[in-house]
Amino acid sequence: MCGIVGAVSERNVVPILLEGLQRLEYRGYDSAGLVVGHGGQLERVRSIGRVADLASKCANTSGLIGIAHTRWATHGVPSERNAHPHISKNHVAVVHNGIIENYEILRSRLDAEGYEFTSDTDTEVIAHLINSHYARGNSLLSATQAALAELVGAYAIGVIASDNPDHMICARRGSPLLLGIGIEEHFIASDVSALLPVTRRFVHLEEGDVVEIGRSGYQIYDAESSRVEREIQISELSNESVQLGAYRHYMQKEIHEQPQALADTLESVCNSQSLVPGIFGAEAAQTFAETGSILILACGTSYHAGLVARYWLEEIAGIRCTVEVASEYRYRVSVAEPKTLVVVVSQSGETADTQAALNHAKKNGHDHTLAICNVAESALVRLCKLRMLTRAGPEIGVASTKAFTTQLAALFMLTLVMSKQRGRLSAEQEQKHLHELRHLPAAVQKVLDLEPQIAKLAEQFAGKHHALFLGRGLHYPIALEGALKLKEISYIHAEAYPAGELKHGPLALVDKDMPVISVAPNDALLEKLKSNLQEVRARGGELYVFADAHTHISEADGIHIMQMPEHAGYLSPILHTIPLQLLAYYVALQKGTDVDKPRNLAKSVTVE
Ligand code: G6P
Repeated sequence: MCGIVGAVSERNVVPILLEGLQRLEYRGYDSAGLVVGHGGQLERVRSIGRVADLASKCANTSGLIGIAHTRWATHGVPSERNAHPHISKNHVAVVHNGIIENYEILRSRLDAEGYEFTSDTDTEVIAHLINSHYARGNSLLSATQAALAELVGAYAIGVIASDNPDHMICARRGSPLLLGIGIEEHFIASDVSALLPVTRRFVHLEEGDVVEIGRSGYQIYDAESSRVEREIQISELSNESVQLGAYRHYMQKEIHEQPQALADTLESVCNSQSLVPGIFGAEAAQTFAETGSILILACGTSYHAGLVARYWLEEIAGIRCTVEVASEYRYRVSVAEPKTLVVVVSQSGETADTQAALNHAKKNGHDHTLAICNVAESALVRLCKLRMLTRAGPEIGVASTKAFTTQLAALFMLTLVMSKQRGRLSAEQEQKHLHELRHLPAAVQKVLDLEPQIAKLAEQFAGKHHALFLGRGLHYPIALEGALKLKEISYIHAEAYPAGELKHGPLALVDKDMPVISVAPNDALLEKLKSNLQEVRARGGELYVFADAHTHISEADGIHIMQMPEHAGYLSPILHTIPLQLLAYYVALQKGTDVDKPRNLAKSVTVE
């Protein structure tokens, strides 16, 4: 989704803006632009396509203040005229991430006041609206505050004016934005990674904050326009952690980072002799004791993590669990169960639908909330009473990989803590699970060693147009995740079914051109799964089976086996995810798609 960078400095800000935009490319975008102020003028450069195209147009552009943007189209097609920044009467320039819901009413009013619209975006109304207040003699800060008071929707904005070369204004409500602190220079950006080359000191803005930013200082005003202080935090992210290094793509790098990401996420439990609720926050013990059921809300890959957790929570902890896609739950009239713990699962912590679903749950009367999230300072973490941070590190590839497996690790820890609290986990079982968790990073590394074989297997998929993924029980959500990965980055139509559902429809699709990929762990459902595989083979379907040791499924005509290591018990879904990630990656390589930035998709979906 849209990315914002801004800077006010004593040096030329154009290289800072371009580098920042490049680092935000992973969020997904279709056009980019920047505006700088100098000599009482605004100079704007915009381009459809990549940030590199914008950079090539900026060779002669410079200024000591500027704002920049990568756009992911919502209102109006991707085009240069719709790209940000939007400028009102050569006077006020704005970049925006979010959606303005009442833009049509505002647009008619501003139209009538003589403001000329040159784009189809909702953002352009913000530029004209601020300008209309600015033209009445307000400061740029007051004009922005007055304009924001008229907006309905979500925004993170950066604003500069041609006659104010020393100040940039920024504000956020519902969309992410942070302030970067330098020496005699200040910055804004959608996330930390954009600014790591220039600073590691950040202020995470609260909902409704408006900031006036100069070279040597800044003032923050809260939603009630009162001056407030916000804590400066030092980012622990190193510049190297967001560099590609020796890998060909971020997705490949992130797949390989999973052993470390899991070890980091599990650190708190692996270094201790027992499981304690405190890892979810100071109030966790009390909250979990009062919890009678769990409702998990999430989107995309994070939703799949929730689906796996349902099996764990019900079977191991004996606690009722429902999992719902956030975009559905937020608009559904649902019956709130008292004593339900609402768990939001999210890599970014900024996904608009998940945030809205959480707010909807709170309105429904749920006040026990837990965020499982990869970004410590994100909105979701701040909105929840309890938290468990996954420590996957920055995930740049749009298709989520290490965030997913670390979410699973966190959800498994939740299961164990809940189970212990409910008296369902003996000391012996607890030690056994802890031992398995400690072993998990090494077990994942062993699966990663299958990479060359999977790369070879992927050659058989490049010419296919459809694929069917099968799993059962705990591994059905892994089949869903495998299908999602394949469709996201290789654009092959892929569907996942619980294998028992085959005969209720999808079997009709099976022929020699439909590869059927099956997750075959050595668990209680293995024999059932084998029968389902026979059903496929009998219809001439080509089977690709990821089978644990001792499953006794043998390679034969039309049956290709990828041998997985030993069965990992309850943690098996984590191991079985890895080859499906690798398969999707290598099929995408075969097809030559843009692996890290697949068409039409965004990493952080900060609008509805
Ligand atoms: C987008 C990303 C997915 C991600 C989903 C939810 O669709 O491309 O990879 O799973 O958003 O994002 P979240 O940050 O809430 O996990």
